[in-house]
Amino acid sequence: MNRAIEEIDVREWSGAADDGAGGNGRRPVEALEGGQVLLFPRLAFALEERERGYLTPAVLAKSKNVSFNPATGKAGGTSLEGAEREGLATMMSRFSASAKDLVDGLLPEYRGKIGLGRTSFRPAEIAGRASSWRKNDTLLHIDAFPSTPTHGDRILRLFCNVNAEGKPRVWRVGEHFERVAERFAPGLRRPGWGSSTMLRLLGITKSRRTEYDHLMLELHDAMKQDSQYQGQVEHTQCEFPSGSAWAVFVDSVSHAAMSGQHQLEQTFYLPLSAMHAESHAPLRVLERRLGRRLA
Ligand code: SIN
Ligand code: FE
Repeated sequence: MNRAIEEIDVREWSGAADDGAGGNGRRPVEALEGGQVLLFPRLAFALEERERGYLTPAVLAKSKNVSFNPATGKAGGTSLEGAEREGLATMMSRFSASAKDLVDGLLPEYRGKIGLGRTSFRPAEIAGRASSWRKNDTLLHIDAFPSTPTHGDRILRLFCNVNAEGKPRVWRVGEHFERVAERFAPGLRRPGWGSSTMLRLLGITKSRRTEYDHLMLELHDAMKQDSQYQGQVEHTQCEFPSGSAWAVFVDSVSHAAMSGQHQLEQTFYLPLSAMHAESHAPLRVLERRLGRRLA
């Protein structure tokens, strides 16, 4: 049995019900907050014929993802123009709405509280891609974004492998956040005095970077920079088949994406107060360990 993963046999994006669908009767919200990946092995996202034409890195501009903002309906990071750009945005918009439906159905406690972030489309092969160590997601890490502080709110992501050749997306899932914090928290540097105000004034952050946000960025970097850790830490290899979807709190579940091509992803932000068990939140774990408030 793969303890990193909880499989749920949902086959439709809308109307999924929280009926203890997980293998051992544990509710999806508990498995998710407890640090497991919820895998929906047979939840495919159907593409229309002309949308299959977007499954190529040629749709990318300079970045590695196309990004879609559900609030404005606009796609960015693509080389496509005109009707083709609109077509890609339509596909991503439909995925975004499907992802929202799934989360609303499966995680009723979050309904009305969870916020919809950006949608991404990742058409490039991960394996062998050149990047700086900081951007190298084949190294185990937790997600933290420099420009978007969360102040402790959770980052939930829903992924769907839409590869047309049947290629799986291969991940590694590392140790539990409690263990990651135990190992790295003592070495993390505190933010410099006045730095959060400076970042805000310079427009580098969209809101105040709290000590928590600072520490999560430090943690992301510390994990990726520790080659001994990367080489030795216990991890589980996970293959997400094409035609499957999976959801995971990427701010607490240590993960690395090793290979795969053609993926859609929807980001959600969950206020801490909406969690079933707030004690699992990385903010609370770090606060317990360091003995002070961080946000
Ligand atoms: C990541 O969040 O590290 C990348 C996940 C993926 O693209 O599969
Ligand atoms: Fe990541």
